Amino acid sequence: MDPTNWPGVFREGRDLYTRNLRPGERVYGEDLRAVGDVEYRRWDPFRSKLAAFLLKGGTVPFEKEVGRVLYLGGAHGTTVSHVSDVWPTAPVFVVEKGPASFAPLLALARRRENILPLLADAQLPERYAADVGTVDFVYQDLAQRNQVAIFVENARLFLAPGGAGLLMLKVRSVTQRRPTSAVVREARTELTRAGFSVRAEVPLEPFSKEHVALVLRPTSPPSTDR
Ligand SMILES: C[S@@+](CC[C@H](N)C(=O)[O-])C[C@H]1O[C@@H](n2cnc3c(N)ncnc32)[C@H](O)[C@@H]1O
Repeated sequence: MDPTNWPGVFREGRDLYTRNLRPGERVYGEDLRAVGDVEYRRWDPFRSKLAAFLLKGGTVPFEKEVGRVLYLGGAHGTTVSHVSDVWPTAPVFVVEKGPASFAPLLALARRRENILPLLADAQLPERYAADVGTVDFVYQDLAQRNQVAIFVENARLFLAPGGAGLLMLKVRSVTQRRPTSAVVREARTELTRAGFSVRAEVPLEPFSKEHVALVLRPTSPPSTDR
């Protein structure tokens, strides 16, 4: 098991792994692998866009240790569980608006103390602002037409100085008609105008079709022109 550029993420051959915070427990049927006293969980890039991003060579320029995370669009907690492995002492606030997804997420949070699920709409961040406070990393993976605006609003409210964001842009939720390149270009323009610099653009093919990861840092001072 070899370390990667991301502390807490390991690689063996073509596969990524995280160190299992709850040895013996699977979250989504993933392989478990013991090396000495340590158990690892295989991280499936076809089930998790964050794993796909890392396998495609993506990296996020954190300026300091990640102490708190905001995760928008948690679903059943597949990727959330690996984020919880990667930063075992960081509170991971997870916003999910679908009650059907929230139930398994809540069950996961009962077994993993650092997962703090919030049944809420990421379009209304003021509703969970008092619970979340500031964070060092905003991760967003939700299929909404206004994904970029949702990211901007949340990052402005919650991102601490030196923090970074990762937006998993689902192109076909923005529009069915325009080509991917045009949608990504417009997203980049909207983000730049809102006061974020796009540090990298990573297409997630072949793991996730028509998804592009955008690595973001706030520029200073943020623009109010949106
Ligand atoms: C693609 S799934 C997320 C998969 C998850 N990130 C993973 O990798 O395991 C998108 C999720 O975002 C949720 N979602 C969509 N719009 C949302 C919103 N406005 N606020 C909160 N959750 C939202 C959906 O209910 C769905 O569970």
